[in-house]
Amino acid sequence: MRAIALIPGDGIGPEVTRAARDVVAASGAAVRFEEVVAGLRAEREFGTPLPGAVFEAIARTKLALKGPTQTPFGGAYRVNVERGGGRRDYPSITIALRKELDLFVNVRPVKNYPGVASRFERVDLVIFRENSEDLYLGRERMVDEGTAEAVKIITARATARATRFALDYMRREGRRRLTIGHKANVLKMTDGLFLKTAQDIARDSGFAVDQRVVDALCMELVMRPEAFDCLLLPNLYGDIISDLGAGLVGGLGVAPGANIGTECAMFEAVHGSAPDIAGKDIANPMAAILSAGMLLRYIGDASAADRIETALTAVLREQRAVTRDLGGTAGTRAMTDAIIEKLTA
Ligand code: NAI
Repeated sequence: MRAIALIPGDGIGPEVTRAARDVVAASGAAVRFEEVVAGLRAEREFGTPLPGAVFEAIARTKLALKGPTQTPFGGAYRVNVERGGGRRDYPSITIALRKELDLFVNVRPVKNYPGVASRFERVDLVIFRENSEDLYLGRERMVDEGTAEAVKIITARATARATRFALDYMRREGRRRLTIGHKANVLKMTDGLFLKTAQDIARDSGFAVDQRVVDALCMELVMRPEAFDCLLLPNLYGDIISDLGAGLVGGLGVAPGANIGTECAMFEAVHGSAPDIAGKDIANPMAAILSAGMLLRYIGDASAADRIETALTAVLREQRAVTRDLGGTAGTRAMTDAIIEKLTA
């Protein structure tokens, strides 16, 4: 039995990770979950949003399934981490985990599912987001009362490893084309370095490689998303384009994701804690379930992941037990139970 650290998270996190956990159990995959607490509950119970026990669990299991965690806007909120004799602080729990565990690339597949209404058909994208630097290092300061400053860091090393990961993934998954997104026309040094490094590495990969300025990329993606295959982006644009991508195929409820590192991997949906619908049994569990499916594929159990996707697809096709965002009336639990029923039939 492979152990997986499970972080339920905040808002809808506990509801959707419970769904993912139950669906994985019903798939027969040889895994077990060890729950650890991060987020608002951890802050209440342990006085910190990210207790050391979370790192201990992930260091042991090398795998995590994470629910979304809430980050307050503005203010002086920082997540303090004391590990390995050092003390560091980060703008959010998710960024702290990604940095501390060296989860250097974020993989976010975006595709149409049968029965999920969207404006587009034949969308089948994979977004690779560099996950360790750019503006997300959170190095900001108030220069004076009316001026704020943030530091954007891009390194050839981090860009290169994200690019190499993307190319390996593309080879494994039989993908065809890599589009590099950037703003090198304005940010000539930072995004210029990202673009040049990625192009140099991808040039002889055998894949078609092209590039787009990120604003034009946004426009093209909402005009003809089916024309794109794989996208490679620095951290901030990757974050934004991931939500845009979710919107192309039915919304945040359907978009899974994975943070991959050299030692560990952490799987989490693209969506946040959705405080507006938390605790109401109406959140779509699909993104969390698909993220768990990505985890199973990552550990080599493609057959359990396929079974889960088949069961989920059957439920989506029938349209009988789907959540409100998918045009149905079912609750989170009822949709989960319908998927489990298909898996165990
Ligand atoms: P959000 O993704 O939580 O919600 C945006 C909209 O999408 C809301 O209307 C919400 O109801 C809807 N939505 C999200 N997931 C859904 C689902 N599974 N089913 C149905 N509808 C869904 O983004 P928002 O409101 O900007 O952020 C809320 C909180 O989440 C913030 O504190 C933010 O920092 C945090 N967040 C955490 C992330 C993480 O832990 N990885 C990622 C993104 C945001």
